[in-house]
Amino acid sequence: MLGIMFDAQINAVIDKVEALRDQVDDHWQIPRDEAQILAQLVHLGKCKSICEIGTSYGFSTLHLAAATRCYQGHVHAFDISDKKISAATNHLTEAGLIDLVTLHPGDARETVSQVQPSQAYDFVFIDAVKDQSMQYFEAVRSKLASRAVIATDNTSTHWQELASFVEFLRLLPGASACAIPVGNGFELTILEQ
Ligand SMILES: C[S@@+](CC[C@H](N)C(=O)[O-])C[C@H]1O[C@@H](n2cnc3c(N)ncnc32)[C@H](O)[C@@H]1O
Repeated sequence: MLGIMFDAQINAVIDKVEALRDQVDDHWQIPRDEAQILAQLVHLGKCKSICEIGTSYGFSTLHLAAATRCYQGHVHAFDISDKKISAATNHLTEAGLIDLVTLHPGDARETVSQVQPSQAYDFVFIDAVKDQSMQYFEAVRSKLASRAVIATDNTSTHWQELASFVEFLRLLPGASACAIPVGNGFELTILEQ
């Protein structure tokens, strides 16, 4: 999928991070078409307070931060790997987006609940260990805005690990949901509470 979404400086870093795929063996990132849809969802919802669980080298974070920039939004990004937090920091700095992102090292099952965003989260992207997704959600749940988008990655590629969590999300009061079969596949939940 081609898109004209971001300025040249950001696109250059996105290209660079995407190229890491062939250079490091722990570089898991969402496909570009999925990243672009997430960015457009942030744009569509004018989302300003974003929580990302699973940052890796910052590919998805670059998209989320760039999309929320025109709303003066902020991304809290969580990853358990210090090495990846450091690499993502460098990439976001290079893209001119670092002021929009706070990176939190450590296990998101603990760190997410320790962070108080300045505004309740209106967009959450869950993309770490699949069978821990419920624990990430429970950590972030009390910090959600009254209307929040939850995007859960890998519903096409890791359905078995995610099925019970997705079913749980679909049954929450105030939830509307659908599967988006793009990239890794992701569950798009809008939660109104
Ligand atoms: C699939 S990658 C994230 C890819 C990233 N969202 C992207 O598209 O560019 C999953 C990440 O989750 C991180 N991770 C694994 N367990 C975690 C945990 N308990 N807390 C926080 N991060 C975790 C890993 O270090 C890894 O970088």
